[in-house]
Amino acid sequence: MRELISKTAVITPGAERPRRLRTNPALRALVRETRVDPSQLIAPLFVINGHDHRHEIASLQGHFRLTPDLALREASRLADLGIGGVLLFGIPESKDAEGSGADDPRGPVAETLRGLRREGLPLALVADVCLCEYTSHGHCGVLDGEKVDNDRSLSRLAAAAIVYAEAGADLVGPSAMMDGQVAALRSGLDGAGLVDTAILAYSSKQASSLYGPFREAAGSTPSFGDRKSYQMDSANAHEALREMELDAAEGADILMVKPAITSLDLLARARDRFDLPLAAYQVSGEAAMIEAAAERGWVNRRGAVLESLTAIVRAGAGIVITYFAADAASWLRETR
Ligand code: PBG
Ligand code: ZN
Repeated sequence: MRELISKTAVITPGAERPRRLRTNPALRALVRETRVDPSQLIAPLFVINGHDHRHEIASLQGHFRLTPDLALREASRLADLGIGGVLLFGIPESKDAEGSGADDPRGPVAETLRGLRREGLPLALVADVCLCEYTSHGHCGVLDGEKVDNDRSLSRLAAAAIVYAEAGADLVGPSAMMDGQVAALRSGLDGAGLVDTAILAYSSKQASSLYGPFREAAGSTPSFGDRKSYQMDSANAHEALREMELDAAEGADILMVKPAITSLDLLARARDRFDLPLAAYQVSGEAAMIEAAAERGWVNRRGAVLESLTAIVRAGAGIVITYFAADAASWLRETR
């Protein structure tokens, strides 16, 4: 027994001792490769028409449907935290087959954008562009029978983008996964003289099980079928890169992948391949998994949030859309 111990004691790892640089917090900070800054984070906001009214979203802890005046107040809190931007989703009072509410200049997104623009907060103003919150059937485009009609949806999406850009959006984010949507938005915007409005393209958007809480928040669950005929099969990486390639060629200013944690390989590959800024959307189901586990005491909430955001940035995203933007920003300020 004695002999065994002395034998193992002489085994050394050689000259390489990576633990040297993990000795104390100062050394660890010195060699840290990835830092997340609040300015990289975008917070989603759900907006409704009206005044001084908010409605808690049961499926998204700490998030509310807000009237434009309250959205303004929330945005100014986010700006104080150093957050980079807000992404607006509108929930209309009524829905129809064509999603008419999407390009209504009196709709909640346009109203909120005008208010935010007037306020002049140091935030990038992003408007999601899709029809699913506005259609009675909940699909992201208009229908031809039970099929989503790609080409007829394009003009609807472009019309919505123009309304949001006119209301003050810096960026419009087409999320419908219609072929040619980036080109349609670019030519629509340019035709309206809105040449400075940039496009944040939801390029690789997977048909994911992780959008459930969002659909509850937005009331956008499809009334029949699913989104697999337009959103991506999460099994396909080459196709995802091709989607990004097409969006870049169509004039996208920023490429996005979604969900984030199931797309880290795509981010890493896209980072090597494209010279455009890359974004990732940590979606509602990703947030819900952390919230639920933290609530049970199974994971540390702060740790899990910061770890996931760091991994997303490490993989290649320079921009992260996250429901944890406010919490993460305040934690990141503390740990500086
Ligand atoms: C709408 C849209 C969705 C999300 C962003 N834009 C929902 C969907 O495609 O069903 C998901 C966001 C989230 O889950 O947080 N096209
Ligand atoms: Zn949609």
